[in-house]
Amino acid sequence: MAKTLFLLPGDGIGPEAMGEVRKIIAYMNEELAADFVLDEGLVGGAAYDAHGAAISEEDMAKAMQADAVLFGAVGGPKWDAVPYDVRPEAGLLRLRKDMQLFANLRPAICYPALASASSLKPELVEGLDILIVRELTGGVYFGEPKEIIDLGNGQKRGIDTQIYDTYEIERIAGVAFELARTRKNTVCSMEKRNVMKSGVLWNQVVTETHKRSYSDVKLEHMLADAGGMQLVRQPKQFDVIVTDNLFGDMLSDVAAMLTGSLGMLPSASLGAPDARTGKRKALYEPVHGSAPDIAGKGIANPIAMIASFAMCLRYSFDMVKEADSLEKAIADVLDQGIRTSDIMAEGARQVGTVEMGDTILKTFAGLQ
Ligand code: NAI
Ligand code: MG
Repeated sequence: MAKTLFLLPGDGIGPEAMGEVRKIIAYMNEELAADFVLDEGLVGGAAYDAHGAAISEEDMAKAMQADAVLFGAVGGPKWDAVPYDVRPEAGLLRLRKDMQLFANLRPAICYPALASASSLKPELVEGLDILIVRELTGGVYFGEPKEIIDLGNGQKRGIDTQIYDTYEIERIAGVAFELARTRKNTVCSMEKRNVMKSGVLWNQVVTETHKRSYSDVKLEHMLADAGGMQLVRQPKQFDVIVTDNLFGDMLSDVAAMLTGSLGMLPSASLGAPDARTGKRKALYEPVHGSAPDIAGKGIANPIAMIASFAMCLRYSFDMVKEADSLEKAIADVLDQGIRTSDIMAEGARQVGTVEMGDTILKTFAGLQ
């Protein structure tokens, strides 16, 4: 059956990185009978320039229909002065909200060839493979009230509200347990139950969800601050980490940096399964932004975007073999000492975006 992919390359280096994924998709269609059907739209500044909105209704509808959305990056100085609700980032926020992408998956994988580039000792990160599952649509970033009030005595008060309901915790825990079953079968849940009521509830609901449906998975709990320490002390102790929006934002950035450059980091955002088809809405994107400082120079690292497509193969299409070999191709190319400038090392050969993409594709083809 045809697999529909909706591409939103966006701004800056987004289109440059997406170009390398497009080549891999074309190869898979021609040589592996993958049957991907592509459509493409505009998002971010590119959409603003074309229709004065960060994403058009037509493209929004296509994103909602597609089996998966591949997203590049948005933003740049050109659009710094555009009104708040049509600024480039609004396109991504709209997609996350309308597609109800509540589960953000951020892997932290240390490729052997880059272990010495980590800020930690190589032996601590070599072979690292963690998956952080961050709740993305609730918590303190969205809870009401959310405001600054004037107290009238020369003081102001900033208020944000952390709110989690049972169903929100149940569904994110469910995603984490299901993913753990495809990995090392271990979940560590992180909250601050010692000082937060929402943390107490988080802990209870994760525990109950585990007991009810996932008791085959090993579950442990950690206070989020201790979890942060453990992440930099002994990161390999973790398999899947599940946590809320705020802690997940910080912990996933910490974990990511254990493994090297922004240009290497993929992500996936998943929604609830469709009641009829059981398929989850999903959006895949690199963690990096549009990198205006290097856009148009042909030097951006396409690996984050390509690795995001590997996640798409794995989570949206169950193409585990192809996902594994695409990830292996990335590791092999790094082993060969081929590097873009952001991950350049002594003795390696520096290449641009297109050559990096071509070499990964050639290596991927060789693994079929
Ligand atoms: P950024 O991630 O675009 O760049 C940070 C630094 O990392 C820059 O020096 C850049 O050259 C480098 N870098 C990033 N990706 C790279 C890659 N693939 N290869 C080589 N080097 C890479 O973050 P920054 O500079 O804070 O933001 C730039 C623009 O991107 C802003 O308009 C920001 O709002 C937007 N942004 C968009 C995101 C998205 O679309 N999801 C996420 C983060 C920022
Ligand atoms: Mg962040």
